Amino acid sequence: MAKMWEGRTSGNTDVIADDFNSSIRFDSRMWREDITGSMAHAAMLGKQHIITEDEAQILIEALAGIISDIDAGILVFDPSCEDIHMFVEQVLTERIGDTGKKLHTARSRNDQVALDMRMYLRGQTKEIISLILGLASALTDKAEKYASAIMPGYTHMQRAQPVTFGHQLMAYVSMLLRDAERFTDSLARTNISPIGSCALAGTTYPTDRRFEAEKLGFDGICSNSIDGVSDRDFCLEFLSDCSILMMHLSRLSEEIVLWSSWEFGFIELSDAYTTGSSIMPQKKNPDMAELVRGKTGRVYGELMALLTTMKGLPLAYNKDMQEDKEGVFDCCDTVKMCLRIMTPMICTLTARTQNMRRAAGGGFINATDLADYLVLRGLPFRSAYKISGQVVADCISRGCVLEELPLDVYKSHCDLIDNGVFSAVDLNACLSRRTSEGGPSSENVLSQINSAREKIKNFN
Ligand code: ARG
Repeated sequence: MAKMWEGRTSGNTDVIADDFNSSIRFDSRMWREDITGSMAHAAMLGKQHIITEDEAQILIEALAGIISDIDAGILVFDPSCEDIHMFVEQVLTERIGDTGKKLHTARSRNDQVALDMRMYLRGQTKEIISLILGLASALTDKAEKYASAIMPGYTHMQRAQPVTFGHQLMAYVSMLLRDAERFTDSLARTNISPIGSCALAGTTYPTDRRFEAEKLGFDGICSNSIDGVSDRDFCLEFLSDCSILMMHLSRLSEEIVLWSSWEFGFIELSDAYTTGSSIMPQKKNPDMAELVRGKTGRVYGELMALLTTMKGLPLAYNKDMQEDKEGVFDCCDTVKMCLRIMTPMICTLTARTQNMRRAAGGGFINATDLADYLVLRGLPFRSAYKISGQVVADCISRGCVLEELPLDVYKSHCDLIDNGVFSAVDLNACLSRRTSEGGPSSENVLSQINSAREKIKNFN
C-alpha cells in the first residue's frame, strides 16, 4: 500500500519492517482522542483562515462521521496502516478527497501523538481516581463494622500492641486517599496541551494554540515546542503513581492472604473471590488477592521499562518513544482490574473476631500497658519497661498471661503494684485508653472514619 509519507523515498518498505514499525494494533485504543483532537485542529485552522471555514466544517463533519462509524462497528481499523493517526487521515481522505489532505497542516504526528496520550491518560486517571475512592469507601464501611474488634497489631510480624480490625483497615484508607491525591496532582501536569509544537520547531502558520487547547479541555499549553514533543514525564508520573498504588494494594493483598490462612483465621473471604484446588478438596485459595500482589510486579516493570527507554534519548521525538504505549495501556488495564476486584472482595469479607480476640490475648501485647501503669505509679519509663519485661519472662515460664498472674507475684517484681494492675492489662481497657489522635480506641477510629468519608465525598 502507498505510504502517506512517500516522497523522498518510494515508500516500499519490507513487510517485516512495516510490521515492526506499526503501532496500530495498540494505539487504535486512542482513536476517540485522536479524532476529537483533529476536530479541534480543523476548527483552529478554519478560525485562523489557514484553511477556509467551509473546509474546516467539511473536515469536522467527516471526522464526526468517522467517530460514529467506529462506534457503530461499521468502520474497523486497517492493520496495514502504520498507526491510528495515519488510519484516520486515510479514511478522511478516502471520504472527502483533497480537503482531507489539509487536516495535517501546521501539525505533526509528534505533537499529535503527545496530545492523544495526554487526553487518554487524563480520562484513565479520572477513572482510576474514582475506583480508588470506591475501594476506600468499601474499606471505610468495613472498618466501621469492626471499629471495636480487637486484634493484635504487628511489628516484625510479632504481636506488638492492641489495635482493632477497623483501625488496621483505616490505615489502608489513608494510603488510598494519598494515592488519589497523587493522581490528582499528576493530572495538573498531564492536562497541558502539546499541540502546535508540530514536529519540534513550531510552525510558520498563524496558529492559535490556546484556542485548540481550550477546546479540548486542557488547562494550558506547554511552553516549549521541543519539550512539547519530547516529554513523556507525564506517562512516567502516571506509571509511578500506579506503582505506588499497586504497592499499597499488594500489601493489603498480602495481609488478606495471611489473615485468611488457618494459621491466622482472622477473616473469611466470600467464595466468590476464592478458588478451589484441582487436587486438595479442602482448599479455599485467595487467588484474587495473590494475583493483585503478583500484578504489582508487572506495573513496576512498566515504570522501569519506560524510564529506561527515555533515559538516553536526545531531543526531540525519537521512534523509541512509541514504546511508551503498550506498558502504559497495560498498566491502565491492570490497575483498573485490580481495583475492580479488590472492592467487592473487601465488601464481602467477614472478620472472625473471636480468633482475632484470641490472638490478641496471647503474645503479651499489653506489656507496654503494664510498663505505662508502672510509670503512673511513679517509675521512670525505662525502669518500668525493664520490670514489665521481667514479668513477661516470668509469665512465659509459668505458662500464663499478664491477666492471670497472681498479685503477690506481681508484687515480688515491684512493690508499687496493686490490684489496679489487672485493669491496666485488661485488653479492652488497654484499647479504650489509646485515645491519642489517629490511635485505635473506637472513638478515634470512628473519627478517622468520619473524616475519610468527608474526604471521599468532597474529593475532586
Ligand atoms: N506511532 C508513533 C508513536 O507512537 C506516532 C508518532 C510518529 N512520528 C514520527 N515522526 N514517525 O510514537
